[in-house]
Amino acid sequence: MILVTGGAGYIGSHNVIALIEAGYDVVIFDSLELGHMQTVETLQNIKATGRVVDFIKGDLKNPNDIKSVFEKYKIDAVIHFAAYSQVAESVKNPRKYYINNVYGTLNLLNAMIDYDVKKIVFSSTAATYGEPSYVPIDEEHPQIPINTYGKTKLMIENIMDDYDLAYGLKSIRLRYFNVAGADKLSRVGEWHEPETHLIPNILKSTFSGGKTFEMYGEDYDTKDGTCVRDYINVEDLACAHVLALKYLENGGKTNYFNLGTTEGNSVKEVFRSCEEVTGKQIPVVVKSRRDGDPAKLIADNKKAKKELGWNPEKSLADSITSAYNWEKKLTEKLV
Ligand SMILES: NC(=O)c1ccc[n+]([C@@H]2O[C@H](COP(=O)([O-])OP(=O)(O)OC[C@H]3O[C@@H](n4cnc5c(N)ncnc54)[C@H](O)[C@@H]3O)[C@@H](O)[C@H]2O)c1
Repeated sequence: MILVTGGAGYIGSHNVIALIEAGYDVVIFDSLELGHMQTVETLQNIKATGRVVDFIKGDLKNPNDIKSVFEKYKIDAVIHFAAYSQVAESVKNPRKYYINNVYGTLNLLNAMIDYDVKKIVFSSTAATYGEPSYVPIDEEHPQIPINTYGKTKLMIENIMDDYDLAYGLKSIRLRYFNVAGADKLSRVGEWHEPETHLIPNILKSTFSGGKTFEMYGEDYDTKDGTCVRDYINVEDLACAHVLALKYLENGGKTNYFNLGTTEGNSVKEVFRSCEEVTGKQIPVVVKSRRDGDPAKLIADNKKAKKELGWNPEKSLADSITSAYNWEKKLTEKLV
C-alpha cells in the first residue's frame, strides 16, 4: 500500500491514477483544505485497474492524524505532495508555511520512522534553486531559495538527509519546474482557488465572466521580453514518481532529480499557444514586472533521464489542450 499525502490536490490526484495504473494500491491522506472530495470520489470510481483507493481525511499538522494511517495500513512507501505552495503568500505569512510544510513533514517523517517505513518520494521544487546563476539548471546548481516557500522545501530536503544518516530513510526529491496540463480523459485537473498558475489563468480568460489576463513584464532579457519557464506535463511528471518509487524499491539510495523538459517557453509563446488551442482571441493587459520573478527557469533533465529512465513525451500544446478540456468541465460545473 502506497500512502499519498495531498492526493486530493492537483498533482497528487494525477499520481494516484499513475499508481493504480502501475498496479499499486493507494491510501490518500488529505485535509481537503485545498483539495477536493469530488477528486477523491473520481479516483475511487476508476474501477478498471481493480486497485484499492482508500481515503483518510486528516492534517499533517496533527501528529495523531498521520500516525493513525500507519496504525491502520501496512504502508510500503510514501509519496508526499501535501504542502502550501503559493510563493507570494509564503513571503507574507511565513509562519503558516513553516508550520504546514516543515512541521507537517516532520510529523510524517517521524511517523514513518516509528512504523519502520523507509522510502519516500517528495515534491520539491525549482524554487529551491532561487535566482539561477546559469540555465539550464542542473541538480548541482546552488540551492539558494529567495522566498519562504522555496526555503521550506529546501529545509525538508536537508531534514531528509539527516534522517537518512541517522535512521536509514531513503528519499527521492523531485524538483518540479512549472507543472501543466490535466488528465487525458479530463477525470482530474488543476483546481486551485485562487488559481495562481499561468496556463489555467490564461484559459479562464476565454470563458464568459473570465477576467482579462494580466501579463507581468515584457522587458526581461529573453527572446521576446517575457519570462521564460519550463512547462512539464502533469502526466509525464506522474510517470517520474512511479519510476522514483521503483528506484527505491530496487534498493536505490537517497537522490534528487529535476523534472522539466529542457525547453523554455515565454509567457507570450504560452499565450499564443492558448489562443491556437482554444481558437479564441484572449483579452490581455500588460503590467509591470512582479518582484522575485527570474527571467528564465529551465531544467536540465539529463539526470532523471539517465538514472530513472524517465522520458517526458508531452508538448506544451498537449498540456494546454488537456488543461482546456478540463477547464471547460470545471467551468460548466461538470466535475
Ligand atoms: N503546481 C506546481 O507547478 C508545483 C511546482 C513545484 C512543486 N510543487 C509541489 O507539488 C505539491 C503538490 O502541488 P499541487 O499544485 O498539487 O498543490 P495542491 O494545493 O493542488 O495540492 C496539495 C494538497 O495537499 C493538501 N494539504 C496541504 N496541507 C496539508 C496538510 N497539512 N495535511 C493534509 N493535507 C494537506 C491540500 O488539501 C491539497 O489537496 C506541493 O508540495 C507543491 O509544493 C508544485
